[in-house]
Amino acid sequence: MDAIINEYKKYGVDTFYRLHSRDYENPHIDIIENLLSHAKTEWNISGNILDLCCGSGEVSHMLEDCNVDGIDPYTKELYEANTGNDCIPMTFKDIVENGIGKEYDFVICSYAMHLCEKSMLPMLLYRIGEVSDNLIILTPHKKPDCNGNFFKEVSRIKKERRTIILYKNRLSNV
Ligand SMILES: C[S@@+](CC[C@H](N)C(=O)[O-])C[C@H]1O[C@@H](n2cnc3c(N)ncnc32)[C@H](O)[C@@H]1O
Repeated sequence: MDAIINEYKKYGVDTFYRLHSRDYENPHIDIIENLLSHAKTEWNISGNILDLCCGSGEVSHMLEDCNVDGIDPYTKELYEANTGNDCIPMTFKDIVENGIGKEYDFVICSYAMHLCEKSMLPMLLYRIGEVSDNLIILTPHKKPDCNGNFFKEVSRIKKERRTIILYKNRLSNV
């Protein structure tokens, strides 16, 4: 597979993930695992977790001792086969329009929230804030910035130009 950015340009994001709904793999899994294992201890990630844009389930695998659900519009079959967890096939737009509908201790979104249209991001964050006090973003670049009316950054860990960021819900007292 070419660098993913070229694939996005060639096919568009939606078509790319439709084409790879059964064989998508994140090539940066080692660094994700490293960051997430540090964060898990430091931020006490536990309980009920939503793996948002869960792909083939690598992040969920790293949280095997938690109760994890997935959301992803394209990879439900692959994710459920790999993890045994449930996956709800929703897009960002579906979430904005309908909400998530279940509460979580943490929502984790790895290498994906930058794919949400900028204009839709505040409403997506509002919807996440309805169901969770904690949002964790794993990203290889500066986007997305989730600071705003609903969440504020409280901690980050950086390694090899990849970052994991913890945001707290502004309405949470914890
Ligand atoms: C780079 S992959 C990351 C997958 C996984 N979180 C990981 O770290 O391996 C991006 C994910 O976003 C999902 N995705 C693409 N467009 C989306 C959309 N409009 N709404 C929600 N998810 C989307 C894809 O199906 C894919 O699983």
